[in-house]
Amino acid sequence: MRSHDEWGEGDGEYREDFDGGGRRKRSRSKKLVLARKRRELSEPPSDGAVKTGGASEPEATTSGREVVAREQIVLPRTSAPWFSRTLSVDEETSFEVYYKKQHIVEDHEWRDFLKYLRSPLPVTFRMNRMASRKEEVREALNASKSFLQNAGELRDDRGRAIPPPTKLLWCDGWQLGMDKMSLKFSRNPVLKDLQRWLVKCNNTGVLTRQAVDSMVPAAILQVEPHHRVLDLCASPGSKTTQALEALNANGDEGSASGCVIANDINPMRCYFLVRRCAALRNATANLMVTTHQAQWYPNVNVPITESVNAESGGRYPEGSYDRIICDVPCSGDGTLRKNPQIWSEWRPEFAMGLHKLQLHIAQRGAALLRVGGYMVYSTCSFNPVENEAVVAELIKRCGGALEIVDASDRIPELLRRPGIPTWKVVTMVEGDVVEYPTYEDSQSESVPIGLKRKFAKSMWPPARQPGRMGALGKRIKGNSIPLERCMRLVPHLQDMGGFFAVLLKKVAPIPGPKATPSDAKIPAKEYERTGPKHIYSKVSTAVIKTLKKDFGLGGEFDSKVAPNLFSRSDDDKSIVYIADGVKEHCIDSTGAGRMKCVWSGVKIWEKSTRDDFYMLTQDGMRIIQQFITKRRVEISPSELQTVLKTLGREVPVESLSPISRTSIRKWSPGSLLVSLRGGDRGLELPIVVNLRANDSLKLIWRFRKGLEQAPKAKIKSLLSKLETIV
Ligand SMILES: C[S@@+](CC[C@H](N)C(=O)[O-])C[C@H]1O[C@@H](n2cnc3c(N)ncnc32)[C@H](O)[C@@H]1O
Repeated sequence: MRSHDEWGEGDGEYREDFDGGGRRKRSRSKKLVLARKRRELSEPPSDGAVKTGGASEPEATTSGREVVAREQIVLPRTSAPWFSRTLSVDEETSFEVYYKKQHIVEDHEWRDFLKYLRSPLPVTFRMNRMASRKEEVREALNASKSFLQNAGELRDDRGRAIPPPTKLLWCDGWQLGMDKMSLKFSRNPVLKDLQRWLVKCNNTGVLTRQAVDSMVPAAILQVEPHHRVLDLCASPGSKTTQALEALNANGDEGSASGCVIANDINPMRCYFLVRRCAALRNATANLMVTTHQAQWYPNVNVPITESVNAESGGRYPEGSYDRIICDVPCSGDGTLRKNPQIWSEWRPEFAMGLHKLQLHIAQRGAALLRVGGYMVYSTCSFNPVENEAVVAELIKRCGGALEIVDASDRIPELLRRPGIPTWKVVTMVEGDVVEYPTYEDSQSESVPIGLKRKFAKSMWPPARQPGRMGALGKRIKGNSIPLERCMRLVPHLQDMGGFFAVLLKKVAPIPGPKATPSDAKIPAKEYERTGPKHIYSKVSTAVIKTLKKDFGLGGEFDSKVAPNLFSRSDDDKSIVYIADGVKEHCIDSTGAGRMKCVWSGVKIWEKSTRDDFYMLTQDGMRIIQQFITKRRVEISPSELQTVLKTLGREVPVESLSPISRTSIRKWSPGSLLVSLRGGDRGLELPIVVNLRANDSLKLIWRFRKGLEQAPKAKIKSLLSKLETIV
């Protein structure tokens, strides 16, 4: 099972991927590895499409293709160096044999298709669409003029021209003319600047590095701020962040009335997701991360003690999501350009082994969708067994409740192919293709029992319903499933990865099994297995009272903020703010206890064990600052400079001016909101600084691992603005 994720992108990625291979010692120094990569990059690059004819030593052809030896095709370099990067020209890979048979592209396109698949994937990214980040995005794009918009003629380390970056209007994105490894190790100063800019903007959440194909599901879902969105298989979260940005496209961060629920079966991967979403700062007030098997995802509309079948007069209980992303686990051969090791590992059984799970997850998605809502089913696989076969069976099983929507007008600029109406179910035995025309053939005695079990009737193309003559002598068209409305993204059309996506609309409740009287007595399975799992509980009134007194929390704090404050521990050690959309759906609803929640909200206060007071967090302060009437102090620009420069260390209050000292010492130890005396002069203030019991100020700016650059960038920008004031 493979995921088409981008979590490895960014600065630390090399080490992560490298360790992931497990074949080299973890202790190997990064320096050595980088040196080796640089050496490698001074070799000619490869687009891998050439089958060479003469030289046995590496040499570059006029088209810039790499020629390594007579009978080899060279695959792209990646950050996963443990596999062989060459393929023999004499043998077709199983992948080629299989897909030639499936006709996923026209015969005359085959060469181009392979050429692109064997070449590295260009770097792509999309700019943050949240209203609160508009200014930062504008500044970042201004700073990028010399290497993005007006890049001029760019050349790589060996002087070859690199195609200029292109803008992708439909996703607010950019596609560079080079792959990530060449960019990362380039010696060209313009490209070095571009790489630094990318890493910085990615870490601060100004942009997200993501493959273009993977941007499609969230783009065609057209998420709006009031929507309830469920991402069933979400980690590492590229589509979740996209949905969360769309939810926060208007208004302040975290103020949207909708919510995004991101789920993944693997709790560890859920934490990757949390880390990634942290770059979206207070927008995470609209997010809850859960860990369930997507095929059993709980319906929070069903009271916790009731059986699912006992609901709604024998139908499946009503779903409640406006939008669902069903980006299922898949064999992942669409990511060949990023993961060339798939060339040698690929087997048709990978797809067959996942078909039933994919269908099961898609069915659950359809059940959880509200009538009128939309769901995208997607994979990063070319395989019709994982794509069209799942969609066709899903439509059949939903008995008219689900329709395939033609989404061409939602992203008209994207070049793609329609879904295919028919395909073959085949396996490969020692390189030979064995075709099974029908399900019954796959169950014949000659087929090994282990293989037999892998087949499901739903893997075969749906039978076309023949047309018939109507009563008035008119021909009534055959009733076939419009699979041509599915989208197949193939690499050679727009220099991207392989992907499959289809937009589905729920037009009626799903006809379910009839309820029987005994059903009502059966408690819900999920509940029986796991018990109530909710980890967030209301903050005690005593703590809220203390905080209100300490910070002078007035105005609408009681009605707008206090009901949304939650904690995960009995002693209310850390207090988070969870927006209404998430609270109503995932905490207050009748079946919310079924949800296995991993994380949600924005941390506002954290109790300091050392100082015994509630420390306000920098991000959290932005949510409640309008209600804070106490603990506000003003200092001079030069004093603020000192505080910012001594991040994490103490500044004695005694070293400040008498007027600042007096205003600070008015307060007991705890968090202070610090602004500039005489007005903030365009700076984004206040910031939170803690007054310690030993009469010192200490600036703390917490960040999640990997997001260190966000506070650093903030402090740097404040300091550079202060320079002009002091
Ligand atoms: C294709 S990846 C999802 C990529 C993600 N949507 C993104 O765009 O970043 C598939 C994910 O599904 C998760 N997964 C696998 N089986 C699952 C199941 N039964 N239920 C929920 N998640 C599952 C995997 O852990 C993996 O993170």
